[in-house]
Amino acid sequence: MIRARIAGVGGYLPERLVTNDELARTVDTSDEWIVARTGIRQRHLAGPHESCAFMATRAAEGALRRAGVEAGEVDAIILATATPDEAFPSTAVYVQAALGLATGFAFDVSAACSGFIYALAAADAMIRVGTIRTALVIGSEVYSRILNWQDRTTCVLFGDGAGAVLLQAAEGGPGIISTHLHANGGLAGLLYVDGAVGQPERSGQLVMKGQEVFRHAVSKLAAVVDEALSANGLTQADVDWLVPHQANRRIIDAMGRKLGLPPERVVVTVDRHANTSAASIPLALAEAVEDGRIRPGHLVLMEALGGGLTWGSALVRF
Ligand code: COA
Repeated sequence: MIRARIAGVGGYLPERLVTNDELARTVDTSDEWIVARTGIRQRHLAGPHESCAFMATRAAEGALRRAGVEAGEVDAIILATATPDEAFPSTAVYVQAALGLATGFAFDVSAACSGFIYALAAADAMIRVGTIRTALVIGSEVYSRILNWQDRTTCVLFGDGAGAVLLQAAEGGPGIISTHLHANGGLAGLLYVDGAVGQPERSGQLVMKGQEVFRHAVSKLAAVVDEALSANGLTQADVDWLVPHQANRRIIDAMGRKLGLPPERVVVTVDRHANTSAASIPLALAEAVEDGRIRPGHLVLMEALGGGLTWGSALVRF
């Protein structure tokens, strides 16, 4: 049986770091409020040269390097983003060009904060059926472009960055065990960007009903965790690491408790990165693989919920 193995991970964070105190100088908020309600202490914000494609390329190069794979071996680049550099072409083709490739194919996935899980599921399916053998799956976001910096209820929550994994087809052994995807467009009004290209009458900014999103996140993520385990005949005790989407420390802690995992078995970056949307899971993975927490043989559960609403999980043996 062919499995998609995660052979390398990489991440990129913008150079500019902005603390809560710094934000509190321009918007009516405080470090105490942000830390207590979200766990966020700081975020990285992209400078003019740190485009979605630039950050994605740096993350992809890291994943290739750690996998020991040449860019020329990549068959597909699947990039999840809600903040592409242009409406078209996709940001993925700019990454392809930056990596010096003119072979294979590349496309973007739009599923907001669940984008990385969606992109991983697409790549996994194509590897399993033999369409491709090697894929870069990337999450890259520049939310600083779509935030209303006067709206304290949203602008304090997000950051910019990119993360990537290099997937390779392998016979049996470790790899992606399952993915589960969900969406409910009836809940689109809870979290969206107001407008698109060519709609100057609209703000182009992120709008969120935070409390309602919070409520859906806790219940829907608990359900996908159960779904992932029961579909594979596994129990909570089998999971070595939870690598959740990093939106809010309180949601992350609730999922850790749900899995009966001690806090040291949950990878947390939200305190330092804030919510980097589709980039948050691969950035967290990159950190935990690089510092040796996630090791070969470990079972890792990833879950995310975002605008759409969209949500899902991926269960991976490293
Ligand atoms: N600083 C200070 N006060 C703030 C604030 C800020 N940055 N943002 C909101 N407040 C105020 C509100 O105005 C409100 O004041 P009021 O009681 O006088 O009206 C009060 O704090 C409480 O606001 P509330 O919205 O009830 O807070 P909350 O505990 O629900 O936390 C979120 C708000 C956004 C942190 C929380 O709802 C959340 O994390 N939601 C999920 C968000 C998410 O995960 N989104 C992404 C999914 S991918």
